[in-house]
Amino acid sequence: MNINLQGRKALVGGSSRGIGLAIAQQLAESGASVTLMARSEDKLKQITKSLHATYPSQKHQYLVVDFTDFSRYSEVIKRYFSKNTVDILVNNTQGPKAGTPLEKSVEDYQEAFDVLFKSVVFTTQLAIGRMRSQQWGRIINVASVSVKEPLSYLVLSNSIRAAVVAWAKSLATEVGPDGVTVNSILTGYFDTERLGELNQKKAEQQQIKPEEVRSHMTGQVPLRRLGIPKEYGFLAAFLASDKAGYITGSNIPIDGGLLRSL
Ligand SMILES: NC(=O)c1ccc[n+]([C@@H]2O[C@H](COP(=O)([O-])OP(=O)(O)OC[C@H]3O[C@@H](n4cnc5c(N)ncnc54)[C@H](OP(=O)(O)O)[C@@H]3O)[C@@H](O)[C@H]2O)c1
Repeated sequence: MNINLQGRKALVGGSSRGIGLAIAQQLAESGASVTLMARSEDKLKQITKSLHATYPSQKHQYLVVDFTDFSRYSEVIKRYFSKNTVDILVNNTQGPKAGTPLEKSVEDYQEAFDVLFKSVVFTTQLAIGRMRSQQWGRIINVASVSVKEPLSYLVLSNSIRAAVVAWAKSLATEVGPDGVTVNSILTGYFDTERLGELNQKKAEQQQIKPEEVRSHMTGQVPLRRLGIPKEYGFLAAFLASDKAGYITGSNIPIDGGLLRSL
């Protein structure tokens, strides 16, 4: 099966490393023009140059944004959409802070809401007009297995991501007649810098080595390993393609079998 995204334009959040970067790379490899978004301009510059550009139609660019500063973010993204359109939007941001329900303050919940929900809704609303008028579009949300089975110590993810997938399901119903699909990926444990940082914190708290935290984690996964970001990119590229035209309103786990529920 050949995934051909030639002529498609994609905007990918949090794409200077980890899952977002792997998605951007795979979309570019499949022929799309990609706009990257993150804070680190130097990295974004380098990645933009390194992305595949096999077809003459491919033009990659980047936006320097900070999802934690909504007012600035909204200005930058509105300016982008005043000059650009996208066919594929990948809603991916940094993960929320770790913690339990009682450790977190209302301010923490508000901050997580602004980053994980508000910025996603805002960006999608800017992108979707064009998708609807051309009767083709793809919205892909990077979510988490936490929406089905809440993860310990990640209450902000558990609660706000559940709101994102519920919103995505409602949106899929509304824009389905216009040929726009909306899907959420339920992320399991992926070998990224974020996971390394979370494991480091856990190890410090439990006074054990980070490798022990990692081996406990892989022990929970039926495939006995962490996900490789490239594998995530393959799923996203498939969902972004014509081949996935009949998949919408779905929450698709990519987790090595981690979720125990059906
Ligand atoms: N990895 C996992 O196992 C896992 C599991 C479940 C869910 N997830 C979720 O999947 C998403 C991606 O995870 P990941 O592991 O790829 O994370 P990551 O390695 O931390 O990458 C996060 C990306 O977001 C960018 N970013 C961070 N803070 C930002 C900000 N304030 N404004 C704009 N961009 C920002 C980072 O680049 P800059 O630093 O350059 O800004 C980077 O490109 C997260 O929401 C995470 O919670 C991950």
